[in-house]
Amino acid sequence: MNSPNPRTIVIIVSLSSFAFLLGVITGYLSRPVHKDSSETLLDKLNRDGDRRLFEQFKEYVDTEYIDKVIRELTRRPGLAGTPQQKQNAEYIRDLWHQQGLKAEIVQYKVLLSYPKGNHTNKVSLYDASGSELFTSKPHEKPLVDEETPEEVVQPFNAYSPNGFVKGDLVYVNYGRAEDFERLNEAGINVSGKIAIARYGKIFRGNKVKFAEDNGAIGIILYSDPADYNTPGDERYFPGGMWLPGSGVQRGNVVVVKGDQSTQGYPSTNYSYRPDEEEISKQFPSIPCHPIGYDDAYFLLSSLVFGEVWQDWQGRLNFTYHITGLVDNRTVLMDIQNENVYRPIYNVIAKISGTIEADRAVIFGCHRDAWVYGAVDPISGTSILMETARIFAKSYSSGWRPRRSIVICSWDAEEYGLVGSYEWVEDNMKWLQNEAVTYVNFDSAISGNFTFSSRTVPLLHDAVYKATMALPSPYNSSLTLYQDWRSKSDSRSELPEPKIQPIGAGSDHTPFIALAGIPSTYSKYTGYIIDGKVISTDTYPLYHTRYEQYELVKMIDPGYTLAKTITLFHCELIRELVDARILPLNVRTYAAVIALNIRRLEKLRADFTENNVEYNELLASIERLKTAASIFHQKIVNLDHSNPLQVRMINDKLQSVERAFIVPEGLPLRPMYRHLLQSPSGLNYYGGTGFPGLEDLLELPNSNPQKWPQIRKHVTILTHSMYSLATVLEKD
Ligand SMILES: *[C@@H]1O[C@H](CO)[C@@H](O)[C@H](O)[C@H]1NC(C)=O
Ligand SMILES: *[C@@H]1O[C@H](CO)[C@@H](O)[C@H](O)[C@H]1NC(C)=O
Ligand SMILES: *[C@@H]1O[C@H](CO)[C@@H](O)[C@H](O)[C@H]1NC(C)=O
Ligand SMILES: *[C@@H]1O[C@H](CO)[C@@H](O)[C@H](O)[C@H]1NC(C)=O
Ligand SMILES: *[C@@H]1O[C@H](CO)[C@@H](O)[C@H](O)[C@H]1NC(C)=O
Ligand SMILES: *[C@@H]1O[C@H](CO)[C@@H](O)[C@H](O)[C@H]1NC(C)=O
Ligand SMILES: *[C@@H]1O[C@H](CO)[C@@H](O)[C@H](O)[C@H]1NC(C)=O
Ligand SMILES: [Zn+2]
Repeated sequence: MNSPNPRTIVIIVSLSSFAFLLGVITGYLSRPVHKDSSETLLDKLNRDGDRRLFEQFKEYVDTEYIDKVIRELTRRPGLAGTPQQKQNAEYIRDLWHQQGLKAEIVQYKVLLSYPKGNHTNKVSLYDASGSELFTSKPHEKPLVDEETPEEVVQPFNAYSPNGFVKGDLVYVNYGRAEDFERLNEAGINVSGKIAIARYGKIFRGNKVKFAEDNGAIGIILYSDPADYNTPGDERYFPGGMWLPGSGVQRGNVVVVKGDQSTQGYPSTNYSYRPDEEEISKQFPSIPCHPIGYDDAYFLLSSLVFGEVWQDWQGRLNFTYHITGLVDNRTVLMDIQNENVYRPIYNVIAKISGTIEADRAVIFGCHRDAWVYGAVDPISGTSILMETARIFAKSYSSGWRPRRSIVICSWDAEEYGLVGSYEWVEDNMKWLQNEAVTYVNFDSAISGNFTFSSRTVPLLHDAVYKATMALPSPYNSSLTLYQDWRSKSDSRSELPEPKIQPIGAGSDHTPFIALAGIPSTYSKYTGYIIDGKVISTDTYPLYHTRYEQYELVKMIDPGYTLAKTITLFHCELIRELVDARILPLNVRTYAAVIALNIRRLEKLRADFTENNVEYNELLASIERLKTAASIFHQKIVNLDHSNPLQVRMINDKLQSVERAFIVPEGLPLRPMYRHLLQSPSGLNYYGGTGFPGLEDLLELPNSNPQKWPQIRKHVTILTHSMYSLATVLEKD
């Protein structure tokens, strides 16, 4: 935003003259936050970030505004492609306009999936004579007042193909690669059967893919009380946060992200779309449907063959069996979805930088939800909105950012990160040239136990530093950092609190895995209930109808956590925007790569036997480590009063993440282009050290292409390390 309207100019003038007077009186303003008229151009270019702005943020932060946004955006369901989502986009754009931000709605037409017309998707159980014994419920019971209950979409899995399949049932635990392996080893053939998997541990789309690969004809997903509740605690929603038996987790099941009809380019009005048959190759080939545990009870309790292994037993009140429906019963899945083109709406706001306008710090959160989405995403959107409001207010009080700020409210994230992918694809060249970092806000108040973060190594230090700047919401004599560390995994060998790999669980994915823009994603997770700590995979009501306003009020009653996460993001972004030298640490990156390669040491014999140039890869990482240390020293010794020197260093820092982007993508997953920060092929939510290599190592040894492909991929990894070292070593 370049040209504030006349009213804001007046305010700036009067505020800054007031600030000036105050400065004269107290002698406090030796290096002003606000513009100082005696400042020379060189002074301006050399200005570093000013921590005092953070003191202002603390005064500005307003939990009433956070509450207002959550209330407004959870009043009605916010499903992508519905009229309500357009209204929500306009609501956000209008708030941003009121705050003086330049904001616009950016529209794309994309392929979305819904249950078809008046059809009710269902799973039924029949006896041998063909009479129906049970059928799954079409809706989750409404449990608190709803303004427009008719807008609640029935539970379904987006992009599941249609199907009418009948057969025996087989319980596949969490439906992970290792679960199917165990079944195979036990001689249980999944082929020709309907699989039933419990939700949890990995991304649901990976479960569907594994079931399909193992020959299943359909897959039912359900939430087991063992994973979504705690024994002995009966406080189900709305009396508490636990999942009632009728609650169902919705979600998409695609492993290809972005608009399914425009892979690799944006969904503009002029974009080519393949025909539906071509597109459907990206979808699972078997029908998939989610149910709650009240319904799963009828299915699972009908299985009588093969008692499950101890760690496969869930918490329904009987002994689980693997397969064999009693009395020749059969299970039927009757699924009819339709894929339709609908407009989606991203809202994009901007504050232009005054020194390096061509460098952008981007932050965003999605706005669409499966139903009300109080936690996912609205708790994050409320923090995004409050962070944006604080920066807008700082701007109208005279603060001028060094770099540009871009603020994004994404649509259709639930359909596979569609809004953010289309925007990144649309703006790819600009972003690769000018984007510094991307900060993601999704589901920020998922829990109330501890701060947690998924962040690329380049940004670890910046995240740590921001958490050191503010107090713990639970104990004001500790910093957030200290509190986080005390709650972090104690098995970790490192002194810092544990940061997880970035994964592909939200809208940072196109930024990092397509464009190579360093990304970070932090939130509150875990629970403190009656003084006890409870950790769950995700919050139990995730993607159900019950993610309502009341839930956020239970997790964070006084919005103390909301305030903490807001201030954390404000401080992190302030540093990214204003710091003279970008807070990206190359040494940490090299150290994390070196740590990850040590995990492969156990494969050394295999590598040697198959002529993989493993030693060269190790050597390239060593050279990168050395180059990173020398480069770091160069920053320390830099003449910080020379703006060109500073810019040269920043340009190099900005190119580091891009060094790992390969245009052809990973060998088995070309849609992911980052050699290191792409998601794990076994679980799209998670990350791993060398995702392309991990994919190839999973191939059976009988595949003649396995080792040649590994040899090639290791060459590419080695070359990327050397290339980056060269960038850092050059003057
Ligand atoms: C749903 O059913 C109603 C009433 O039978 C009918 O008017 C409507 O057209 C149907 N909608 C669709 C999409 O088939
Ligand atoms: C599993 O069953 C399918 C047919 O249902 C059959 O084609 C396949 O050979 C079986 N696999 C094993 C390992 O027995
Ligand atoms: C694309 O088409 C839609 C619908 O006709 C229109 O509203 C929108 O403005 C168009 N977008 C652009 C960028 O022209
Ligand atoms: C087990 O749970 C089902 C479903 O909630 C219930 O109907 C049944 O009475 C329970 N059985 C026992 C033995 O508790
Ligand atoms: C189940 O099917 C088998 C084989 O078709 C048959 O022998 C058996 O009698 C059936 N059992 C029942 C309870 O219908
Ligand atoms: C807060 O932290 C301080 C420093 O570790 C500790 O001494 C104190 O007991 C803590 N207070 C509470 C209420 O936990
Ligand atoms: C944390 O969240 C749970 C679930 O909403 C709630 O029951 C509990 O009271 C909260 N704890 C604190 C300390 O706010
Ligand atoms: Zn989300």
